[in-house]
Amino acid sequence: MTSRISRRALLTAGGAALTGAGLAGCDGIIASGGANNSAQGSAGSLLTSKLDLPGRFQVPLPIPPVLKPVRTDGTTDYYEITQKAAKAEILPGVSTTVWGYNGIFPGPTLVSRAGRRTVVTHRNELPVPVSVHLHGGKVAPEHDGYPTDLIMGTGPHDGHSGRMTTGPRDYVYELDQPAATLWYHDHRMDFTGPQVYRGLAGFHLIRDDLEESLGLPTGDRDIPLMIADRAFEADGSFRYPSVDPSLANTPGVTKDYVSGVLGDCVLVNGAPWPVLEVEAARYRFRVLNASNARRYKLTLDGGASFVQIGSDLGLLERPVRTKTIEIAQAERYDVIVDFSGFPLGKQITLRNGNGRGGTADVMRFVVTRTASDDSRIPDKLAAREQLSPDQAVAERQIVFARGGAEMNGMTLWTVNGRPFSEDYVVARPKLGTVEKWTIRALNVEHPFHIHLAGFQLLNGSEQGWKDTVNLDNGGRAELLVKFAGYRGKYVLHCHNLEHEDMMMMANFEVV
Ligand code: C2O
Ligand code: CU
Ligand code: CU
Repeated sequence: MTSRISRRALLTAGGAALTGAGLAGCDGIIASGGANNSAQGSAGSLLTSKLDLPGRFQVPLPIPPVLKPVRTDGTTDYYEITQKAAKAEILPGVSTTVWGYNGIFPGPTLVSRAGRRTVVTHRNELPVPVSVHLHGGKVAPEHDGYPTDLIMGTGPHDGHSGRMTTGPRDYVYELDQPAATLWYHDHRMDFTGPQVYRGLAGFHLIRDDLEESLGLPTGDRDIPLMIADRAFEADGSFRYPSVDPSLANTPGVTKDYVSGVLGDCVLVNGAPWPVLEVEAARYRFRVLNASNARRYKLTLDGGASFVQIGSDLGLLERPVRTKTIEIAQAERYDVIVDFSGFPLGKQITLRNGNGRGGTADVMRFVVTRTASDDSRIPDKLAAREQLSPDQAVAERQIVFARGGAEMNGMTLWTVNGRPFSEDYVVARPKLGTVEKWTIRALNVEHPFHIHLAGFQLLNGSEQGWKDTVNLDNGGRAELLVKFAGYRGKYVLHCHNLEHEDMMMMANFEVV
């Protein structure tokens, strides 16, 4: 008990204020009853907007700008990002304050070359501390965005602990890994959910020679799609049920939302149910689910289908044709959609089979021009290392569940029965080894995510190298996890961001 409360106290309130802020936070965030809510195929409760949402398929799809390096040398590209609040017109005619990387949501897209170092200098002009995580990156521990490794903001610094940097700080990414669709997002202890929700998320693509030799669609026909649901207040601000909307010290959401926050408005690249005019040609879409709690079951109507070419950590061995993509939070699906067989004027809608009403739709494509297309989808994409169960030097079980830690009638989300604590390490795998992990999910759905390490699934049909896997309530996944790159302490956690903020996270240490 004491270690749990003191961890939260350390992070949120500091010693003296502990019983005040710490417990107020807990009262707010913990329901002893209704924590098993599930709606629209996702753990969580629906939050309804307080203004009229726009009609669907009216706003053009925005494409986040690609960030230019401020300088570059023989080995390294240098970038600068300022995290700040800014006004955005997300809903037509409505002004919304976002917290964005360079003030925009999604943040600018970074494009790196595999094997070249990328250094990003982050400046924090927000009132709160931040931590930047490159999701899917094989990154040294001191640059991984550990939740208490903070860049302090313009607000008061009391009540925080951990490593606190004031002023700009560099994140160094060696990017010794194949072409992939990564993303960067906030990872501040206890506050990742609300800070990502306000806009702190962007794409970081890695390209390499192999991928470029394949002839896949490129340029204007290689488009990242960040899907994220939100709700809005009457004044246009993002609606989120924080106990303390200042996000200063008291974490947590009000008790109806402890299972997750689901919005009623589906944004793609920060626009509501947008429309993209396409040529009658093949397009590559890098689909990311950046939602806090919502899972999507994506389909295309009008007879179109997806050819999956990549997953979280890069290209598959071979393309896979599929009608449906089930995408949990933080997963990436790299797909080709071929619009060449459709007549001009054809509308193809990307739908969400898990949704109801507005959330059953995501965006629309309209075929508006004929075009030449010399792209192709080769039968063989990338030869990737295939892990086999006999390589596993250890087996471990990870259980994601509610409860297991009761304190004054409050229940937390836990990993192997324990809420997050900075000192508790759930596994100590050896650098360079492969382990077999069995992950189990109880009470509701949980997407499992592990930093640094990539894995392959032993059960189920999903292919390729992944860093996040969805688990249904009662579900189990068997993974072969490879620990490569760096020694040090990292986190694994549930990527339902409300669960993560409410302690469903644990350390592992590569030794
Ligand atoms: Cu996308 Cu630890 O997170
Ligand atoms: Cu991550
Ligand atoms: Cu969870």
